[in-house]
Amino acid sequence: MRKKFIAGNWKMNKNLKDAKLLAIALKNKLAGVNNVTIAVCPAAVCIDAVAQILKDTNISVGGQNIYFEKEGAYTGEVSADMLLSAGAKYVILGHSERRQYFKETDEIINKKIQTALNVGLLPIFCLGETLEEREAGKTFEVVRTQLEGGLNNINSEKMLKITIAYEPVWAIGTGKTATKEQAQEVHKFIRNWLKEKYGMEISEKVIIQYGGSVKPSNAAELMNQPDIDGALVGGASLDPDNFADIVKFK
Ligand code: PGA
Repeated sequence: MRKKFIAGNWKMNKNLKDAKLLAIALKNKLAGVNNVTIAVCPAAVCIDAVAQILKDTNISVGGQNIYFEKEGAYTGEVSADMLLSAGAKYVILGHSERRQYFKETDEIINKKIQTALNVGLLPIFCLGETLEEREAGKTFEVVRTQLEGGLNNINSEKMLKITIAYEPVWAIGTGKTATKEQAQEVHKFIRNWLKEKYGMEISEKVIIQYGGSVKPSNAAELMNQPDIDGALVGGASLDPDNFADIVKFK
């Protein structure tokens, strides 16, 4: 059985003081919850402080982005090793906001995934279709292209270190969640793609999270789908009660 994995994506929210307060609240609210893997992904500048607060707890820390070069003259960028050294275990890569606003392509995302794995950071690889693509009947085609591009040259050993997050763009931050049937359908498609590329055993082990307006009221029905193994939570992860309720979904 795959252990559910619920991660909070704080995006560009919470300054250092507020990030610390949120981390302390979550540490208290989620103490002793060990049936779910839990992570929070603050802004890069807050990772060190949040990781110190959450050290030796059941909550891991992740980053939201890295640059694919190892180090050097890339003003403003943050490397995989920097995130790791600040206390991150995971890194979100390929988020639709990065694809949309920062023009990240599947090729760039693939480089970032390789770079993260090379230093030992565990990628949470996001993908998903836009509303236009869904309405044009292109969901599977888009998801397949993103899988092929993002996971190019990723062997089985590496694949086991990657979490996939299916996040339909039309459901992110809109309050409009995919129905459990819509989400399960795409998750199953992703798992079948993994099965074709890596075989049954690996496809059954990879965690596939759903993301897009996950909240306490819809977490359980999504999580109870056979191929939905957790959630990547944006807006609702900024409130400790909401995030804790999602983690403790029933
Ligand atoms: P949302 O964001 O929960 O606010 O829709 C999810 C995400 O972008 O990871």
